[in-house]
Amino acid sequence: MIQPVVITAPGAASRELRLNDLAVPLPLDFLAPGPGPWEVEIGFGKGKYLLRRAAESPGTRFLGVEVVSEYYRRVAQRARRRALRNLVVLRAEALFLLSAVLPRGFAQAVHVYFPDPWPKLRHQKRRLFEPETVDLVLGLLAPGGTLYFASDFLEYGELVLSILRGVPGFAVERLDEPWPEGPRTHYESKYMAEGRPILRLRGRWAPEASERLASGVHPEGFAGLVVAASARAAEAEAAL
Ligand SMILES: C[S@@+](CC[C@H](N)C(=O)[O-])C[C@H]1O[C@@H](n2cnc3c(N)ncnc32)[C@H](O)[C@@H]1O
Repeated sequence: MIQPVVITAPGAASRELRLNDLAVPLPLDFLAPGPGPWEVEIGFGKGKYLLRRAAESPGTRFLGVEVVSEYYRRVAQRARRRALRNLVVLRAEALFLLSAVLPRGFAQAVHVYFPDPWPKLRHQKRRLFEPETVDLVLGLLAPGGTLYFASDFLEYGELVLSILRGVPGFAVERLDEPWPEGPRTHYESKYMAEGRPILRLRGRWAPEASERLASGVHPEGFAGLVVAASARAAEAEAAL
């Protein structure tokens, strides 16, 4: 069952919202009014990066997505206590949110730090970055927008790099150095203190990427969609 989406936003005063209080795609300008650009963090955990950035950059609007209620509550409570007018916090399953609820092409940056790698084969469909789902993540980015990614699970990080390299019009680089300001998130601080290697990526739509290419559809993902669509069409025909 899909968990109900819960929303804490400055535009809703102190009331927590449910998805059925709002229109879809989510009216972000109502949730955090203002002219500032948007940045999104998916799977913010304890919220260290999101809360710091929202406090440091009041002219930018931030949207955080986290599936675990306890983390969501903790960050929502801190956002309220700190009177952050530029932070919207959602408790939601990211792939559902990306595919059905959020608008597309609105974010100047998308941050994904230490996403669950789901190493077991039978769980891999839950990964955020798969050929079939990468367009959902990249589709959040506005033209010229940037994706930031980090993982200590190097095998998964390499796979994400190769998936992103396969997206037409998307330019991605593996960073040799840590972020200039130091560790961004709770997990990054912990793993750096333990001396674990970390793979960091930065990606951006190439300036020449046309709108069609910038949909972010991965050729393998596209092939999968076509196969699924043809199978459905054949089933429908057989049922006639
Ligand atoms: C390993 S933790 C990393 C937390 C944080 N980004 C950090 O670096 O400290 C992964 C986080 O992603 C969240 N998460 C995993 N799958 C998710 C999903 N499908 N939708 C939203 N959040 C998800 C988990 O609940 C967890 O908080």
